[in-house]
Amino acid sequence: MDLLEAIAKRKSVRAYLKEQISDEVLAKIIDAGQCPPNAGAYQISVLQNPALLKKLNDLAADAMRNSGNEFLMSRVAIPGYQPLYAAPTAILLSAPAGNPYSAANTALAAENMILAATALDLGSCYLITPTLAFAGDKTGELAKEAGIPEGYTVFCAVILGHAAENDFSAPREKRGTVNYVK
Ligand SMILES: Cc1cc2nc3c(=O)[nH]c(=O)nc-3n(C[C@H](O)[C@H](O)[C@H](O)COP(=O)(O)O)c2cc1C
Repeated sequence: MDLLEAIAKRKSVRAYLKEQISDEVLAKIIDAGQCPPNAGAYQISVLQNPALLKKLNDLAADAMRNSGNEFLMSRVAIPGYQPLYAAPTAILLSAPAGNPYSAANTALAAENMILAATALDLGSCYLITPTLAFAGDKTGELAKEAGIPEGYTVFCAVILGHAAENDFSAPREKRGTVNYVK
């Protein structure tokens, strides 16, 4: 699949098969995450440990429930809703809290990985909700278990897996507005 096709085909997948992705495919996706436009350090933490994925999922759900944010509270109240959608792989993108470009650096790495995953016929989704679990992680235990370096903040996450059939994606539509000055 060429790049333009992958860009057109990409969509957020929110239902996954249990089967893990192969290490070969994962390595290609990580490579893509290591060559985005960049202005500073960031860490790519690959989580495939089922117990840790469940812990992260459950802490993110708790954080959504207690967020006071109407949208997040209504999402998490949907029966069966899981912030990580039971994906077999979650990748956390963290970066130094003090770098004003950390959010951009991690988002660009995430998008590279998402497009690579699409080109490799995997489902993926860009997530912010797991960051809430780390924001509430006062002891630093979760960050330690996930291998987040000292002084780094988790800015976003990408989940990966083989897409299940019942995914509930947003309709394809053009986003953003455009103007030309010639
Ligand atoms: C900043 C940002 C945060 C997002 N956080 C989440 C999230 O926590 N959970 C989720 O299911 N989707 C999340 N998404 C995915 C969007 O919901 C999705 O991209 C949007 O609905 C468009 O659908 P598409 O990706 O299928 O084109 C996020 C997207 C962005 C850009």
